[in-house]
Amino acid sequence: MIQILIAAEDFGAFPSRFAKIATLYPTKRIGFSETSFRKIKPRSLLLLDFLDLGSAQIDILRAFSKSGQSVPTIGIVDMNSRQNLLQARELGFYNLLDREEKFAALFEKIREVVGDYSKPTLPSRFSETIVKSVETTSMGLNLMSAAALSGAPLPTRFLATNAQDISSAIMTDGIDNWLSAVQCHHSHTFCHTMMVAGHTASFTRSLGYSEADQALLGLGALVHDLGKVKIPLSILDKPGRLTSEERILVNKHPQYSEEILATRQELPKQVVEMALWHHEFLDGSGYPNGLKGNQIPQPVRLLTIADIYSALTEKRAYKESLSPRQAFAIMFEMSGKLDMYLLRKFRSLVLSSDFGHVRRKVRA
Ligand SMILES: [Fe+2]
Ligand SMILES: [Fe+2]
Repeated sequence: MIQILIAAEDFGAFPSRFAKIATLYPTKRIGFSETSFRKIKPRSLLLLDFLDLGSAQIDILRAFSKSGQSVPTIGIVDMNSRQNLLQARELGFYNLLDREEKFAALFEKIREVVGDYSKPTLPSRFSETIVKSVETTSMGLNLMSAAALSGAPLPTRFLATNAQDISSAIMTDGIDNWLSAVQCHHSHTFCHTMMVAGHTASFTRSLGYSEADQALLGLGALVHDLGKVKIPLSILDKPGRLTSEERILVNKHPQYSEEILATRQELPKQVVEMALWHHEFLDGSGYPNGLKGNQIPQPVRLLTIADIYSALTEKRAYKESLSPRQAFAIMFEMSGKLDMYLLRKFRSLVLSSDFGHVRRKVRA
């Protein structure tokens, strides 16, 4: 997995919109010292800020350039400064980006160099339908995150198509295949989102929702945690317990999602509500608004169940995943918080003998 290293003499002057890349790729800041440059690992991309470099830093860069370490580098320069440009080139750095550029320009440049971080590597045992569906959904989620960060139009149509693809892939190949495939994804957030989308698709179909409602809830599931794009991956993917400050930040993600989604007129309000309220509980103990009972619409209640169940049953490096029965035991203890009618329906679906099985063989 690629890691982005940001080297700058003055991190305070590093363009803050470029620093947002830390929410899309694992990112680390490194100081300008010979040791830190010597320690750079091959699977890294170096984001090098050429602002205000002194002779000591230039010597370090010259040595790094001559060392033959094959580390792709993007230099952040002031294109209006001839001296800045010449200096970068003279030191052997040619892939350069103007420090006045927008975030989207940096995102594209990084994708050119390292490819798509969102693309999972799936073992060959998965069918073409599953692979295609996981890959295009990952791409949709990645484009959505980048658009949310740069303020560009959200690719909602693309994601709506992803939601339909997930539903058909599950119909033909079974949810178990879908869940195992998405759990091969290296990004925990993508894996979680795709698990929730898979469970939501199976659930809404089993409840006999119309195609339009299945599509609506499918889209809601895919964007429900979009606000996490404002939280660094180092916190989201942190193995183990979060500090209380980190927990406060993570718990802001529903509001962040709403901030991003609410301005897009084309999104149905139910989708925005699913993103904003999926951590609310019927007894008023949830967040961010402490809603109670009937204030929480059914699509939100359904998503909350799919969300919690996915979180309990997904594999994480530092914790065992729970079996479906263990997960339901915990969820039934949450009476008063969750919609028990929906929870019972979901449990009978998941524990039914044909859940997860391939319904129809796909031709290769
Ligand atoms: Fe969430
Ligand atoms: Fe979630």
